[in-house]
Order: sequence, then structure tokens, then C-alpha cells
Amino acid sequence: MHSKSIFITHANQMITFKGSSHKPLTKEKMSELHIVEDGAVWIEDGLIKAAGKTSDLEGQFQGQLNEAEIIDATGKILLPGLVDPHTHLVYAGSREEEFNMRLNGATYMEIMNNGGGIHATTSKTRKASEEELVQESLIRLDRFLKHGVTTVEAKSGYGLDWETERKQLEAAKKADELHPVDVVRTFMGAHAVPAEYKKNPDAFIDLVIEEMLPKVAEEKLAEFNDIFCERGVFTPEQSRKLLEAGKKLGLKPKIHADEIEPYEGAELAAEVGAISADHLLRASDKGMEMMAKKGVIGVLLPGTAFFLMAEAARGRVMIDKGVPVALSTDCNPGSSPTCSMPFMMNLACLHMGLTPAEAISAATINAAHAINRAKEIGSIEEGKKADLLLLNVPNYMQMQYHYGMNHTDTVIKNGEVVIKGGSLCYQR
Ligand code: NIG
Ligand code: FE
Repeated sequence: MHSKSIFITHANQMITFKGSSHKPLTKEKMSELHIVEDGAVWIEDGLIKAAGKTSDLEGQFQGQLNEAEIIDATGKILLPGLVDPHTHLVYAGSREEEFNMRLNGATYMEIMNNGGGIHATTSKTRKASEEELVQESLIRLDRFLKHGVTTVEAKSGYGLDWETERKQLEAAKKADELHPVDVVRTFMGAHAVPAEYKKNPDAFIDLVIEEMLPKVAEEKLAEFNDIFCERGVFTPEQSRKLLEAGKKLGLKPKIHADEIEPYEGAELAAEVGAISADHLLRASDKGMEMMAKKGVIGVLLPGTAFFLMAEAARGRVMIDKGVPVALSTDCNPGSSPTCSMPFMMNLACLHMGLTPAEAISAATINAAHAINRAKEIGSIEEGKKADLLLLNVPNYMQMQYHYGMNHTDTVIKNGEVVIKGGSLCYQR
């Protein structure tokens, strides 16, 4: 098990988010990082045993200093491991030819409606074995880890039939077991209308509700239930029906809302009491206000807007209206093929008007809330998992200021050093 204790010392700035585990941060609270200068963390048995000033912890653990592995964080910042609350981690293949088509003028929805897009990845994923999906996912998880991410959410949705949806969720479970990064599962059977149901999408929704959801719940394959609510995909009425049905089985609702066109997805998220509404590029003021009132987390995916060359979500407005905001990559082969949370944080500042402090809250503690994990991860506090990130910058603002670069120096996951000097060093 975890034999040796780890003592991280002398971090220039340690960002703790102390006391933020009970509810997501909103408004000015998103800028309260609770920074400790000359910060230190004592790690034992995979957990944070203590966090505070280096001199205080040196006193507290005086008798044990010789036995611990010391990591000197001089000149670096220490923060909670990044959390990505929205990915489509498990899929087969890639779609660079569609990227090329879009650069030549085609739109994302046109490509999808002509049988490409999600449908293209669905046919590849249907053909892949579970083992192949696990292997592709592990490669992506390594990329996440190298960018400082220690927990990701992962959705199914490239099956659109029960056999493949289950295969994806099983692959996510195996990847979670095999890889240091934790993988939290979401069922997204209603990610697109499969070709077989093109003429009757309502019948597909009924199939998902009657045949798939009960099995997801019974076999504990996922915690969350998501749908692509978008004009030309699933309507708000269909989305409501599916999300309510999931709720009855204990699956918490999430929703891809107002991504391409305004469709009152944010309003729906508030009405069904979703844990998060994601994308929100075209969310209305009213929808945002309803989300703020209900405490629905807005998971913003600035990489998707960037990669689809669309206008970004109004992150600044959402925060000012009181929506708790989180950030994510949306990692998927069509609209955001990246694993870089740091770059999402850069975009959040440069394209959505978040400050560097808000971007960090959104990528750690609020992201942990968006996947119902804030009691275990997302802040540096006694008793939480030792999921920690050391960045090679002297203060947190430089993380965004030196944009487009990966500053990851060391990553500790469950109390084990898994990235050292920016490189993978875990044993699989
Ligand atoms: O979140 N919008 C729907 N789903 C993904 C894209 C999936 C794909 O293109 O493969 C998204 O953007
Ligand atoms: Fe998505």
C-alpha cells in the first residue's frame, strides 16, 4: 500500500479552497482561493493529513521527517489536481477529415446530418472491442494526467444501442481500474438519433427509457444521465422525459444544453434540477437566472466553441448572475479533440472573461461539485484524497499569463507521485 509519507514543502503559493466542499462557489467566492504562502502538505495513506505553512507542518511532524519523501516545491505553485467534469473519453478512431471539411466551410450539424459526426464515431465504436476501447482510453488518460488532471467524468453515447453503450461504460470502468486517473461514469444513450430511428425519434427515447436506463441503474454502470438537447437532435420535451425517468432510478440529470442554437436547455436544466447544464453557448439570460436560483452548475467547454469557430459561452455574465461555473475539455473526436484543461482555462480567461482565479475555481472545486465528488476532491484540506498538482510557475496568475503551455511539473494521485518533471512515472 502507501508505505512512505510524502511531505511537500515551500510551495510559493498553495491554493487550498478551504471550506468549499459543501457547496459550489459562486460570484466573488469564485475568486477566493485561500492561498497559503510557503505552503506545505503532509500526505499519508493516500490522503491529505495536514496542509498549512511549511514551518507549522515541520513542527507538527518533527519526529517523522526522516521517514518521509520530501518534495521541495520552491518556486512552484501547489493546487488541487484538476477535475474534468465532461468528457466523451471512450470512443474509437478520430475525425480529422471532418475538421478539414469544416475549415472548407461545412458546419458541424451539416456533417452530422449527412451521416458523419457522432454517427461516424458510433459506427467505429460499435465495431471496436471493449479491450480496444480500453486501450484508446488509457492513452487519453495519460494525456489528461500530463496536463494535471486527476479525475475525469466519461460519457457513453457512441453506441446508441444497448450492447455498445454498455461496452463503453464497461470500458470506462476498466480504464478507471487500470489507470491512476479516476473515471466517473455518465450514461448518454441519447447522444444522437440513430439512423434506424431517424423517422421516429420518440420511439428511440422510449427505447432508452424502457430498455436501457433500468439496466444502467441496476448494474450500477453510471451515476449520471445526459442527453443532447439541440434543435435537430432531441427536443426539450424528449429531454425532460428522459431526465425525469432517470431521476426515478437514481441517475442524476446532466444536459448538453444550448450548444449550437438557443433551445431553452438552461431553463430545462433548472426545472428538472440537473446537477449541471453543459455547453450553454446560446443560453438565454432567463435560463442563466433560473440556473443560478436552483444552483445548477454551468459546465463551460471553451474548447468546443474554439474548435467549432463559434462564439464562446457568456461565462462572465453567468458568474455575475450567480451561476456556479465549472470548466471542462469536452474531450471528444468531433467538437473538441483535446485533453488540455490548462488550455481550457486559458480560453476561459481570453474568450469568456473569467479571471485567472475564477478559472482555477472552475477547474477544481466547482468541477468536483459538478460530478458530486466535492467531499473527496477539488480542494487541499485534511481528510481529502491527496490529488495534487505542482506547476512550474511562481504564482497562479502566470498559469494563464504564459498561455498555451503545459506547466505541469509534478502530479500526485491518491498519494502517489505519477508525474515527475512533467513525465509519466507511474507503474501500471
Ligand atoms: O459535447 N454535442 C454533442 N456531443 C459532443 C460532440 C460529439 C462528437 O462530435 O463526437 C459535444 O460537443
Ligand atoms: Fe459533450
